[in-house]
Amino acid sequence: MTEPDDIEGTVALAFSGGLDTTVCVPLLKEEYGYDDVIGVTVDVGQPEAEFEEAEETAEALGLDHYVVDAKTEFADLCMDAVKANATYQGYPLGTALARPVIATAILEVAEEQGCTALAHGCTGKGNDQLRFETVWRDSELNVHAPVRELGLTREWEQEYAEEKDLPVEGGDGGRWSIDTNLWSRSVEGSELEDPSHVPGDEIYDWTDSPSGEDAELVDVEFEQGEVVAVDGEELRPVEIIEQLNEQAGAHGIGRTDTMEDRMLGLKVRENYEHPAATVLLAAHEALEGLVLTKEERSFKTQIDQEWAEKGYQGLVKAPLFRALEGFIEETQTRVTGTVTVKLEGGQARPVARESEYACYAEGQASFNTEAVTDDIEQADATGVAKYHGFQERLANKVSEAVDSAAAEAVTDGGPASAASGTSSDGASDGSNDESEE
Ligand code: ARG
Repeated sequence: MTEPDDIEGTVALAFSGGLDTTVCVPLLKEEYGYDDVIGVTVDVGQPEAEFEEAEETAEALGLDHYVVDAKTEFADLCMDAVKANATYQGYPLGTALARPVIATAILEVAEEQGCTALAHGCTGKGNDQLRFETVWRDSELNVHAPVRELGLTREWEQEYAEEKDLPVEGGDGGRWSIDTNLWSRSVEGSELEDPSHVPGDEIYDWTDSPSGEDAELVDVEFEQGEVVAVDGEELRPVEIIEQLNEQAGAHGIGRTDTMEDRMLGLKVRENYEHPAATVLLAAHEALEGLVLTKEERSFKTQIDQEWAEKGYQGLVKAPLFRALEGFIEETQTRVTGTVTVKLEGGQARPVARESEYACYAEGQASFNTEAVTDDIEQADATGVAKYHGFQERLANKVSEAVDSAAAEAVTDGGPASAASGTSSDGASDGSNDESEE
């Protein structure tokens, strides 16, 4: 253990009431020398029980505890993620996008309360340390990560908690490490760390096992890429997400089981649930398919991919991120319309879409009409068809000609060298001479 630095002042700790952040409270005084610690819990849609645990633990520790509601800010960022069709290796980024929102809210409390430092309970192996610190290191305050800096293990923390009689009712927090917010619920650890282990149904909480029965249709309405209503009812982002998590979760929609490449390069097996995200991402992409041009769609996949990458890294304040958002916003001006999504058997399948901006005219593609437009007819495609693949045909023809010329040259010179007995393997001359076999 390091000697106390005797830093004066108060440190604001990202506090959940779990084992990691609970042991951080005395350690920040004993090991770092702070006079005081305040705990901050940020509401990004965790279950009620998590706030109760945080509240009770804070009380037992005598910790000044602040709870900040950042659900609206977080839901707004989730809606931006929909516009960017954002997923990272199949995961809609719930944990990742919540971190900068949480870090910003904690920084605000710390500044209001005159704190001199900030601390989190993340380990040195994960992504969250990086996502928190990129926000915090942009401030004047000191930043501490006791679990990482003091090299703590869960075993050491448990013993320390016992020794100090710390209130860790939940013990090590249970069988799995779970992170829940509005956008996703992630489960990791324990037997799930074995990638060959098939998880039991008990790891899921938001989604029922997909049954395929009682399919239902849901209409998702967008205005300039923004989700504004579900089944005709205008709702705020937080409400939309909460409602769809329940509705689509009942159909087993939004389960992801993936090997995730973390920022530090470590791979981790992650299981996620994200019913609302799955429905909204599918609906949005379907609407873009109707209104955007082929070129916009294809270029936007690159922009979207980069948005998701930055989102995963927690770099939502990066200049590049703002530039990507600028492009995305521009494309969304026509993403207005309604998509009907079928919820059935673990799948959210867009089955109908309509928009006044549809870049589509039924008559143009229909089998029943001869003309494409007033001045373009089917027969006009003949010239295009003749040119299509011109270079490819030419390239193939040239290769064939070169190959057959080479084969002929070998056949001409072949028998002579074989007959002279200088070749002992008989195969390299391409003469198909089987006498050596
Ligand atoms: N690996 C994911 C991410 O970095 C989620 C981690 C969630 N944490 C957890 N304890 N389950 O975004």
